[in-house]
Amino acid sequence: MADITVEKTLALIKPDAMNWADEIIEEIKRNGFKILQKRRIQLSPEEAANFYAEHYGKMFFPSLVAFMSSSDIIVMVLAKQNAIKEWKELLGPTDSRRAKEEEPRSLRACYGHDNTKNALHGSDSEYAADKEIKFMFPDAYSIMEPVERGTAMK
Ligand code: TYD
Repeated sequence: MADITVEKTLALIKPDAMNWADEIIEEIKRNGFKILQKRRIQLSPEEAANFYAEHYGKMFFPSLVAFMSSSDIIVMVLAKQNAIKEWKELLGPTDSRRAKEEEPRSLRACYGHDNTKNALHGSDSEYAADKEIKFMFPDAYSIMEPVERGTAMK
């Protein structure tokens, strides 16, 4: 049987968007992503700092860590062809205020507030997706994996 390869990416629903989690999950499915894994967790400040380690030392790092560990979040592995790029496009710009001006239909425009409270996360690259999925789901497998045709887009 022919195989196709789907890409995986890590998505987070951040604390400021948790009230709209069900609506956001419906929107994710409507856009053709398959949710392979999903769990609700609260990050400790240490875990939030490790997840965002590449931003250590930046002005916004302490407030980002405090925000991301302030309440529960939902972590998901999404799968689709070109999932990484397409999920970032659906999110819109990092700053939700800019998203509201430039991409008013994007998820960060609809559910986020500013540069830190921006509702959702998406991996930046294959390398980041692989690392972030392993961080959140230590038992997960490689982000590039053949999926039997017909089951990939459910
Ligand atoms: P970044 O990787 O630049 O953006 P994106 O999430 O769109 O890939 O930044 C990671 C997170 O850091 C971002 O989602 C929110 C936070 N952040 C701030 O709090 N202030 C800022 O000025 C920036 C650029 C990011």
